[in-house]
Amino acid sequence: MYRVAIMGATGAVGLEFIKILEQRNFPVKSLRLLASSRSAGRKLKFKGEDYTVEELTENSFKDIDIVLASAGGSISAKFAPIAVKSGAVVVDNTSYFRMQPDVPLVVPEVNPKDVGWHKGIIANPNCSTIGMVVVLKPIYDAAGIKRVVVSTYQAVSGAGLKAMEELRLQTIDVLAGKEAKPKIFPNQIAFNCLPRIPQSGGIDDSGYTSEELKMINETQKIMGNNKIKVTATTVRVPVFIGHCESVNIETRKKITADEVRKVLSRAPLVKVVDDPKNNLYPMAIMCAGKDDTYVGRIREDNSVKNGINLWLASDNVRKGAALNAIQIAELLIEKDLVRVP
Ligand code: A2P
Repeated sequence: MYRVAIMGATGAVGLEFIKILEQRNFPVKSLRLLASSRSAGRKLKFKGEDYTVEELTENSFKDIDIVLASAGGSISAKFAPIAVKSGAVVVDNTSYFRMQPDVPLVVPEVNPKDVGWHKGIIANPNCSTIGMVVVLKPIYDAAGIKRVVVSTYQAVSGAGLKAMEELRLQTIDVLAGKEAKPKIFPNQIAFNCLPRIPQSGGIDDSGYTSEELKMINETQKIMGNNKIKVTATTVRVPVFIGHCESVNIETRKKITADEVRKVLSRAPLVKVVDDPKNNLYPMAIMCAGKDDTYVGRIREDNSVKNGINLWLASDNVRKGAALNAIQIAELLIEKDLVRVP
């Protein structure tokens, strides 16, 4: 049994951490819920019991074995090393440590072995990247991958609870004939698509957003192959939960659409839903609350020699964040790696 702390327990991902720890019957010996001073004293339920939220401080990690962190990059930058110093292993859901060479970036269905070289911090990848790589890996193993072109349709929950509230309030305002008032997003999100995601950083000189660069760099790191070329366009859409992605894959060897369906139907945490004639295809509302990444619209792209198009939907708060992090913690337990080397 393990002493667990959640950093950012009151946020969209933090609340999902609590839910999934309970659903998976994670071996929790004790649970410490950490957030900002604004939330200190608030009560949250775990397994039917009330737990009081505490303010995150440098002393929060005494007698803690595992920290699940999702309170923002700058908070992790400061507090993850403090947690490690006090002997805890940190699974960090922010982007801060992901590309650091001494920090493993893990999706258990893709590169579980990488947890083996952690030095106290294991990074949880970006939500759009996780949904994509669980689908890419079986195709990579079957036919190799040269290049990926991805466009995302991302839910607002990726930007936190306040962003979800902004979509709700703007929808009410617009339907009432009032003007939408953007606060979290730079433009109206209700009834709109926003092709930039400034919450995760701005646009660099190359013209890519940091969300797009994350998909490129993280995919190569998780797949362990810097030769896979990736290009991405990331878009926020007025959906609460569930990221969808249009993915075009150029494989090294020829693979037919039927073969892709076959390898994906055997893949862990992937569900093929591909019966478009009966209006059955992955949708945001289909994946919300589910562990699986749904994949469909699988077809050959005849504009290149070895091309596959597909469409996927993945719960960004669950597999894209909290579930993947908890799976990493479960892997650490299984491999007896819940300790700082
Ligand atoms: P709080 O609710 O007290 O602000 P989300 O991604 O949904 O916006 O959630 C962010 C999470 O990170 C929340 O739990 C939030 O706590 C927490 N958080 C934000 N700023 C801090 C901070 N300075 N110290 C500790 N936790 C923070």
